[in-house]
Amino acid sequence: MVKRALITGITGQDGAYLAKFLLEKGYEVFGTYRRLSTPNFWRLEYLGIFDKVNLIPVELSDTGSIVEALKISEPDEVYHLAAQSFVEASFESPVATGDITGLATTRILEAIRQVCLDVKFYNAATSEMFGATGFLNGGKPLSENDVFRPMSPYAAAKLYGYWITKIYREGYKIFAVNGILFNHESPLRGLEFVTRKIANEVAKIKLGLSNELRLGNLNAKRDWGYAPEYVESMWLMLQRDEPDDYVIATGEAHSVKEFAESAFEIVGLNWEDHVRVDKRFIRPLDVPHLVGDYSKAERVLGWKPRTKFNKLVEIMVREEVGRWSRWLKGERFPWDAPNYPSENRILTRALRM
Ligand code: NAP
Ligand code: GDD
Repeated sequence: MVKRALITGITGQDGAYLAKFLLEKGYEVFGTYRRLSTPNFWRLEYLGIFDKVNLIPVELSDTGSIVEALKISEPDEVYHLAAQSFVEASFESPVATGDITGLATTRILEAIRQVCLDVKFYNAATSEMFGATGFLNGGKPLSENDVFRPMSPYAAAKLYGYWITKIYREGYKIFAVNGILFNHESPLRGLEFVTRKIANEVAKIKLGLSNELRLGNLNAKRDWGYAPEYVESMWLMLQRDEPDDYVIATGEAHSVKEFAESAFEIVGLNWEDHVRVDKRFIRPLDVPHLVGDYSKAERVLGWKPRTKFNKLVEIMVREEVGRWSRWLKGERFPWDAPNYPSENRILTRALRM
């Protein structure tokens, strides 16, 4: 029997990589997306899977549309990745972030409880939930047993999602897991996140298209891994006999300054000649230090990171240099050419009537 997976947030970085991974495993893949005036399927196109996934329009604020997505896709596994995922924006829209990043997890779990109790459910939790602990413990790698001290509306919303996932697991015996993933990056990362922002600007500066990179807190340290490897851990968590929560990380912390330094070095430039600190990018509160202990994932899932810091920076910078070089020759970016899926790839309630 072909397995069926439903991914919320299939248009995002992780959703796209996970869809590709599951297709390669032989799954039939369904993904939810939000209706926008301009379609946003560039990552699926970029990975060459745009015509291979089934798309279901879903509003995460509307439980009825979530129920419909479950009925249409009849999944064996649900991967809940959709969220307002940008920490900085959560300070600007704390209520909306609470609703979409937090409460929507309950809407999905409640729909599963009512429609398909046997489904396996993955919740995208985050290292951001540890917040201040990563600093207060003297920078020791954080494991599943460490205390959460969230420092943003985003982290508070994710912590709610984390707990509600455990509550549905214990209360209703749903196979529900939390993946506590530390930062993971790739050329498909959104442009506002610091790694892609740096890689993109470094490439433009190298090619004479820009001269300055404006950043906020240069001292923050993060544990940065490579996204395609991290989505595999999501799948591994759902293949176990018992549901549990896992930290996924590389075990190394590097500062934003180190990322910038290393990125400029790759193109033969000195970061200090171009980086300026701009208070617009400094958050009301910022998690100072995050590094993860992935030993449980290694022991139980057989998962470990393969791409470490220097290689990750190189992958991201080289990709941006390639994109901007092609752009100078007249080629447009994938996100500049919005595409509509063929109609038989869009599934709506009308199909069931
Ligand atoms: P991402 O690229 O920002 O993707 C987020 C997805 O959620 C996109 O498909 C986005 O749709 C969708 N979304 C956002 N707001 C929505 C709304 N109001 N209604 C419906 N859909 C909405 O994030 P990611 O990096 O792939 O991360 C995937 C998940 O893992 C997120 O829950 C994130 O919080 C969590 N996480 C990420 C990391 C990381 O380092 N990447 C680490 C830990 C946890 P559009 O494409 O239409 O915007
Ligand atoms: N975005 C951004 N832009 N961040 C900057 C900048 C800047 O110009 N300058 C410094 N930073 C610092 C931020 O203050 C933060 O300390 C660090 O760089 C990383 O910021 P982001 O790349 O925005 O990621 P994040 O760590 O806040 O959140 C990401 O990782 C979480 C896991 O820990 C997101 O992917 C979250 O969704 C995810 O949960």
